[in-house]
Amino acid sequence: MPTLADSPFLAAARGEKPSHTPVWFMRQAGRSLPEYRAAREGVAMLESCMTPELIVEITLQPVRRYGVDAAIFFSDIVLPLKAVGVDLDIKPGVGPVVADPVETLADVAAIPDLTPDDVPFITRAVQELVGELGATPLIGFAGAPFTVASYLVEGGPSKEHARTKAMMFGAPDVWDALMAKIGGIAAAFLEVQVAAGASAIQLFDSWAGALTPRDYREFVMPHSAAVLDRVGRLGVPRIHFGVGTGSLLPLMGEAGADVVGVDWRMPLDQAVPLVGDRAVQGNLDPTLVFAPTEVMTARAAEVIEAGRSARGHIFNLGHGVIPSTDPDQLARLTEFVQGYPIG
Ligand code: CP3
Repeated sequence: MPTLADSPFLAAARGEKPSHTPVWFMRQAGRSLPEYRAAREGVAMLESCMTPELIVEITLQPVRRYGVDAAIFFSDIVLPLKAVGVDLDIKPGVGPVVADPVETLADVAAIPDLTPDDVPFITRAVQELVGELGATPLIGFAGAPFTVASYLVEGGPSKEHARTKAMMFGAPDVWDALMAKIGGIAAAFLEVQVAAGASAIQLFDSWAGALTPRDYREFVMPHSAAVLDRVGRLGVPRIHFGVGTGSLLPLMGEAGADVVGVDWRMPLDQAVPLVGDRAVQGNLDPTLVFAPTEVMTARAAEVIEAGRSARGHIFNLGHGVIPSTDPDQLARLTEFVQGYPIG
């Protein structure tokens, strides 16, 4: 019987040689799966994230269907804020919406820190999941301070992150307090998941690509580094991912990642020298699943070849699964990657 010690995902994350190129997909649990849509019927997104039976079922769905090399915990980056009492919702087709956007130091001070007692349903769901998953590792996750701050300051999804950056440039004291508060909540949320049995974590800084390297280094990196440092003490591999981060990859590695996630815009062989002596994760264009299967797999082979120079390579898409994706195409992609010669 294989155990977690044999996991190709964990081996690649640690820079050891896996038995095959490991593969999982960001947003592998979600609207592309009919069984997800059935499980979620009549249940609001945040409610499903607080119901252990649903968390367990939805997390397991893509593992059953695809036999991917890792499960990612079903939740959302704003769930910890909801758990400490921030008035927010996840609106279908829109995303997280915050009732009272954060503007002042008093607004920041009004957000409580997170303790394990705020999220007993997370502990229960993770414990149950690791029992069910056996040799398949569970990835815990949290939103990074910048990406979560963007929702809290804008009040909802944003393209330009203009209000967020206005605070960053114009009210650095409020900004630092907000980033420290969110970072503390993210670290505590990750600690809960790892204490309950998660084998790795991913810090999602999806919108960090909106920043110049200079501003990332000054205003964001210290806070992400603090989260990664706290989690580093737990001894599990840490994946650090953002979108449009070509110019930030060296800093995202330096922030304390064991694995740097790369979006689809930069070939992995260009990314590898930038991330230092670290593993990489990525990075097939998520729209390639809509191409003929042979086109998709030929491009997947290019991704694997480009990842060979890395200390380790975990195959993934360059961002999340698009909801209209055909699950059968992801099944074929998984089989292709796992069967590709390891070299
Ligand atoms: O399978 C997985 O990857 C795990 C589940 C997961 C969700 N959200 C579930 C979800 C993860 C890892 C996230 C993280 C997340 N949430 C991020 C970072 C990752 C990324 O994609 O860059 C961000 C930016 C969010 C904020 C958020 N939540 C958005 C932008 C949306 C989509 C809005 C929409 O409807 O298009 C959500 C909602 C959400 N989170 C859904 C899921 C499955 C869809 C809501 C639903 O099914 O009703």
